[in-house]
Amino acid sequence: MQPTLYEKLGADNVTLLVERFYDLVFVHPEISHLFKTDKEIIKEKQRLFLTQFLGGPALYSQQYGHPQLRARHLPHPIGNDEAVAWLACMNKAISTLPIDEPLKDELFKRFVPTAMFMVNREEEE
Ligand code: HEM
Repeated sequence: MQPTLYEKLGADNVTLLVERFYDLVFVHPEISHLFKTDKEIIKEKQRLFLTQFLGGPALYSQQYGHPQLRARHLPHPIGNDEAVAWLACMNKAISTLPIDEPLKDELFKRFVPTAMFMVNREEEE
């Protein structure tokens, strides 16, 4: 069987990715205002979620139940611009990981459809 992205990355890189990603998100001019919960809680939830999203153990579901990611994002106004900003932060965070380029590409591509699926508002003119 093919190794999962989680196996290729390893748990330490998932933790590193989450740290670096939110360091960018929490200061991003377009999306930082959306994040209102305790920053450490957000990071920990994302670490649990990404572990399972990338094919590792279902840590998020064990603690919080079915992710229902789109439903959980509905209270937050996410337009195309916000999804692009989120992906830009993710791309930048991925670029800092100590992994090879093809793995960086594969990892980034994994996020694109999910981020676009979170769009829940028409862009304002
Ligand atoms: C498209 C752009 C996105 C935006 C603007 C966004 C924004 C947010 C916001 C504002 C929250 C709530 C934070 C809080 O509690 O204060 C959240 C939670 C979360 N987001 Fe996103 N998100 C996006 C895409 C994604 C994607 C692509 C993933 C996964 C691959 C993801 C995974 C999560 C998870 C796991 C949570 C925690 C859910 C929970 O409350 O248990 N998000 N996001």
